[in-house]
Amino acid sequence: MIGSRIQLAAYLDERRARIDDALDRRVPSLGTPPAILHEALRHALLGPGKRLRGILVLAAAELARGSAEAALGLACAVEMVHASSLILDDLPCMDDASVRRGRPALHRVVGEANAILTSVALLDLAFDTVQRTGGLRDAARGAITCCLTEAIGARGLVGGQVADLAGTGARLDLDALEFVHSHKTGALFIAAAEVGALAGRARERDLEPLRLYAKNLGLAFQITDDLLDYSGSPARTGKDAGLDRDKTTFVTLCGIDGARRLVDELIDAALVALTPFGRRAAHLRAFAELVRTRDR
Ligand code: IPE
Ligand code: IPE
Ligand code: MG
Ligand code: MG
Ligand code: MG
Repeated sequence: MIGSRIQLAAYLDERRARIDDALDRRVPSLGTPPAILHEALRHALLGPGKRLRGILVLAAAELARGSAEAALGLACAVEMVHASSLILDDLPCMDDASVRRGRPALHRVVGEANAILTSVALLDLAFDTVQRTGGLRDAARGAITCCLTEAIGARGLVGGQVADLAGTGARLDLDALEFVHSHKTGALFIAAAEVGALAGRARERDLEPLRLYAKNLGLAFQITDDLLDYSGSPARTGKDAGLDRDKTTFVTLCGIDGARRLVDELIDAALVALTPFGRRAAHLRAFAELVRTRDR
């Protein structure tokens, strides 16, 4: 057990470093005009994120024997979409966060207008990255673009964020809360697994179990995020705690123990979904265990 934890830590560190390096190469250098935009892009994208969605892309691509070059480009694109969403989520009109990734939230550094524009520029950079990534067949590139588009828009992250904001101050039931979480967070986890698989030779019969894995994993991830907002350490998470106090969360609906039980059930379901892949899914399995126990 300890041995497999150490192996996972080494795997995550190596993949995170690879993604960090590739992201850095894809953003124009500081000083490129307009300088404030490039400072903002680098602040939002290159801050010390966990890169979990990017690593999920890589792990799914490894499972599907995708080209390493294609997988890395797509991991960057997914992390760009994620960073774009975090900028908006932190704005005073949304969660009004002051800290992100252990640093001031972007709007506190460059102002709200520049933060919004940086978020748009990151989405643009994400799709530019998908277009420029080598090692993909045209059909796969088209499917990847559709998959990301769906995960971002009204049927994904944006739909979830709108429902999240509409529910602030109201009491949501479990179904409504699951809708919020599975859209604002789950959709990009599903897309990460799917685009990773599409970088390889995944067939529909491989995609379906991967989507089911990522759906359960993404929902579990957001429930653990609710738990960390309630009782996590800002020094570990790098963000404010207690910002969900006016929201219905899995902690307010189910209590701490109930929320933890749900995480266990979802992670178990994610592991079951990987059964058809046998030993080839070892990294995806270890990744799910990490989400179960994370404290950051
Ligand atoms: C934060 O995601 C936003 C949520 C969906 C909860 P992460 O906790 O993965 O944030 P970073 O990328 O590591 O900063
Ligand atoms: C945000 O959920 C999900 C996004 C799509 C950005 P949260 O609002 O709970 O994320 P944190 O806690 O600010 O990272
Ligand atoms: Mg939010
Ligand atoms: Mg937030
Ligand atoms: Mg949160």
